[in-house]
Amino acid sequence: MIVCSCAVISDRDIECAVIEIMSQGPAVLPTPGVVFRHLNKKMNCCTCAPVAVSAIYRAMDRLQDDTRVCPYALAEARARLVRIEERRARREDQYATSAGAA
Ligand code: FES
Repeated sequence: MIVCSCAVISDRDIECAVIEIMSQGPAVLPTPGVVFRHLNKKMNCCTCAPVAVSAIYRAMDRLQDDTRVCPYALAEARARLVRIEERRARREDQYATSAGAA
């Protein structure tokens, strides 16, 4: 399935990239930007970002099920990704609140 039509990236490409990224050690998180850079692609319209995030999580789930990557590294990466998403959501809420007050 094509995830990004601008850069022509499939869910299989994302899964392979996540495997390689997670094999580099726990310091690197498979965020959409990291995955796209790993594939030597650039996001253009960013419409695919939510689908790319879902594909990354699905790839991490499959890796955990297959035990191809250390489960502790996957759990740590998933927790860090969730914290990043929570921070982004808080920033958007703050921006929406301040924009509504103005
Ligand atoms: S659809 Fe992925 S950058 Fe446009």
